[in-house]
Amino acid sequence: MIDQIEQLRNSAEAAVTACSTVADLEEQRVKWLGRKAELPNLLRGIRELPADQRGPAGQAANQARTSIEALIDSRTSELAAAEMLLNLATDSVDPTLPGDPQPVPGRLHLLTQTRREIEDVFLGLGYAIAEGPEVESVAFNFDALNHHPTHPARSRTDTFYVDSETLLRTHTSPVQIRSMIDQPPPIRVIAPGRVYRRDDDATHTPQFHQIEGLAVDEGLSLADLKGTLLAFAKAIFGSDREIRLRPHFFPFTEPSVEIDVSCFACEGGKSGAGERCNVCRGAGWIEILGAGMVDPNVFAYVGDHQPAYADRDLQGFAFGLGVERIAMLKHSVPDLRLLYTNDLRFLRQFG
Ligand code: PHE
Repeated sequence: MIDQIEQLRNSAEAAVTACSTVADLEEQRVKWLGRKAELPNLLRGIRELPADQRGPAGQAANQARTSIEALIDSRTSELAAAEMLLNLATDSVDPTLPGDPQPVPGRLHLLTQTRREIEDVFLGLGYAIAEGPEVESVAFNFDALNHHPTHPARSRTDTFYVDSETLLRTHTSPVQIRSMIDQPPPIRVIAPGRVYRRDDDATHTPQFHQIEGLAVDEGLSLADLKGTLLAFAKAIFGSDREIRLRPHFFPFTEPSVEIDVSCFACEGGKSGAGERCNVCRGAGWIEILGAGMVDPNVFAYVGDHQPAYADRDLQGFAFGLGVERIAMLKHSVPDLRLLYTNDLRFLRQFG
């Protein structure tokens, strides 16, 4: 029995030494040490031997198994290391190359895209960008802008107050006042930013974005306002657009107007879509912003703080538009809240 074991051990060790791959070694492991291999068979036969031979035979068999196992293990790690070195030398994967497919780099939010698009139009017309604080004084938000003491927007149910003299600005118009106090005429500025109102439904959120515009110079007229906003409407809604001015009221402009753009979906009714047009509902016109000539009372307030505006024959025009409204019109967004709930299925459609 012991001779048989020795023979088996010699053949196994010879076979293992001859292996040249890790896979071959695994085969050898099964062949010599696996459940159905010869060595385990021999071990099972040991219990039939006479009692005095069992000990030495068992010992020899165990030694043989340990030694074959050790040889397979050490050959395996030798060959594995050699195979890895070979792979490193011959594989030409460059881990510094970008992945394939290229990862999506993300995109700007629709509101940011729209704001920048509008800014670009006015930058092209020679306007500069102005900024003002979102936490604003009641004086600049309402008083300087000629709001009557009983104007409804002043009420606590419409506006977020910080204290009796401070609020979250309800529009970007106070930046008109700040811009004029900061610099002498002529002025051409736009002021994009967040504004706040106590409203919350499908067409109103408590926070939204406006872009204010202000031009002040000698000899400006409503015609300049109209030409400027026509250029804006064509740039944003298409070169075939027209605009119309409708009389309106704002405390800080006189006269005041609302500006409509001819419907870009039904070509102002010319396409024959008529009342079926779901953008203008058959009107042919869509309201896009409020505007007007700067009220003399506003110049009077500014003149008290900035002498360059006192007792001068100045004219100005101003306008204010909602960024959300423009984005929704342009891209047929049905619910304002989609702009704020960060659903990627919505956001990924733009840009
Ligand atoms: N501030 C006005 C609003 O929020 C819009 C506006 C701005 C109107 C400038 C006229 C001139 O409704």
